Amino acid sequence: METIILPDAQALKETDLDPSLDPWAEIDRLRREKNAVILAHYYQDGEIQDLADFVGDSLDLSRRAAATGADMIVFSGVRFMAEVAKILSPEKTVVLPDADAGCSLEETCPPDDFARFRAAHPDHIAITYINCSAEVKALSDIIITSSNAEHIINQLPERQPILFAPDKHLGTYLARKTGREMVLWDGTCIVHDQFSARELVKLKTNHPDAPIAAHPECHQGILDHADHIGSTRSILDYVIAAPEREFIIATERHIIHQMEKAAPEKTFIAAPGSDGSCNCADCPFMELNTLEKIYLAMVNGAPRVEISEDLRLSALKPLEKMLEMSPPARSVPQAAE
Ligand code: 13P
Ligand code: SF4
Repeated sequence: METIILPDAQALKETDLDPSLDPWAEIDRLRREKNAVILAHYYQDGEIQDLADFVGDSLDLSRRAAATGADMIVFSGVRFMAEVAKILSPEKTVVLPDADAGCSLEETCPPDDFARFRAAHPDHIAITYINCSAEVKALSDIIITSSNAEHIINQLPERQPILFAPDKHLGTYLARKTGREMVLWDGTCIVHDQFSARELVKLKTNHPDAPIAAHPECHQGILDHADHIGSTRSILDYVIAAPEREFIIATERHIIHQMEKAAPEKTFIAAPGSDGSCNCADCPFMELNTLEKIYLAMVNGAPRVEISEDLRLSALKPLEKMLEMSPPARSVPQAAE
């Protein structure tokens, strides 16, 4: 089921843009005119993070989307995040800059296959990572993000069997941390799966005092070397608070922009891929978004998320469960401000 409405044929396109257009000034004008709020994930380009009203991880962004008083939410992140905003705030117009900004985890988990997986384990509760389609959410019992997963799983009765989808690395990490057995879906994130443990060890030899901070979507070879494992927000909090001056960051490298703003006296090194470079640490979906596309999405009111009410209500249930079972929200330091 398609949840994205594309701009119509007459809508303004990138090729129509006047080269003298000042996207910052125009986005600001539209933000006021349309009573819009711009939400951006930490993996967005630095210039997008700097113009956003709020920058955060998946959980903080969902909470912001649920609470905003704006009429339009411009979601500069990937499609599943914009869908969550629409599910939680159906009366708002939710646009995303590029309709193709998907997620490899979502791609590895088609709803029909997931429905069969569930049906094969009828006594299991389906705990599903927020990085999935609205259809997969609708087939799940509780949604989690990497920042609330452990807290939520620890509230489940001890004898309750668990299915976890779609990220097998996050699932393996959570099973170890909570001591729970889980049946795992075989999905991975193309960004976090590409970091090389061999190259990481070499890098660490040259920077022996630099702690390694890793996202739990990384494979075990990386997590085995990590001094801190957590969501994007948790990695950011960790590097700001830790006394060390240099850090190796094993997650999408654009988060380093917030780190450098919040702790300019510290050095952040992106973890390497198998060729020793940090190029693998760019999310190809997140990087589809640009200032120009944000401007066009605000002018056109599209690409826009539209979800049938049946699907929205079914996907809302496990998301509400997540919000209910999450630890209380803490204020998010906004280095962007
Ligand atoms: P966070 O929930 O940590 O922001 O992660 C989202 C994501 O897509 C990681 O790849
Ligand atoms: Fe999806 Fe990976 Fe990109 Fe996160 S970094 S949005 S999990 S592809």
